[in-house]
Amino acid sequence: MARILKEYPSVALKPENLDGKIDFVRVFGRVGPVHIEIGAGKGTFLLNQARSQPGNNFLGIEWARKYYRYAVDRIGRWGLTNVRIIRTDAVAFLADFIPDNSVECFHIYFPDPWPKKRHHKRRFICPANLEHLVRCLKTGGQLKIATDHADYFEQIKTVLTVWNEKLQEIDFLPTAGAEACEWVGTNFERKYLKDQRPIYTLAVRKM
Ligand SMILES: C[S@@+](CC[C@H](N)C(=O)[O-])C[C@H]1O[C@@H](n2cnc3c(N)ncnc32)[C@H](O)[C@@H]1O
Repeated sequence: MARILKEYPSVALKPENLDGKIDFVRVFGRVGPVHIEIGAGKGTFLLNQARSQPGNNFLGIEWARKYYRYAVDRIGRWGLTNVRIIRTDAVAFLADFIPDNSVECFHIYFPDPWPKKRHHKRRFICPANLEHLVRCLKTGGQLKIATDHADYFEQIKTVLTVWNEKLQEIDFLPTAGAEACEWVGTNFERKYLKDQRPIYTLAVRKM
């Protein structure tokens, strides 16, 4: 039987209620480091990370309605107070709503690879979006990326080289929900590991 998904207003952040750049203290009701996951899927990373790091605030951005609803229900059932999820396009949201120097870490795990050449322009990690990611990170803040797609990974590394003087490569430490042999423990990572696909990771810190 299909699970009945509940809407939890304390978890769901509504785009229509936003007015200009976000005030994270108001959104979370407290001061705390802000972690943002772009393409949160079913919320596995958000759930595990938020449970293990109660002092951090987590915002998940997810475009697909069915994943968004699943993630809100899941986080809501756990009663977590340090997670918000918004259903919106991360590209516009990043550009218009996230303030400069406000984010501790961006997590981008298994972004859609858009494998056909004519679709590469749809890939999230591109020069314009990277510029916003860097703008929004605090000094010392991190950007963590994982993908199974070798070609996309090469593109990501190329796009990042432009920021060599601002972004320093650091070790990618596995996230809270990751089990042995996993980096992030998300649904897509588990699916790809089952298919024995290689996983590529990268982490940088804003200097
Ligand atoms: C391949 S899935 C990975 C989901 C999750 N991170 C994981 O590892 O299991 C990519 C997710 O990014 C979402 N997504 C793609 N483009 C997006 C965008 N522009 N804004 C918000 N979410 C987006 C998709 O709907 C999808 O849920």
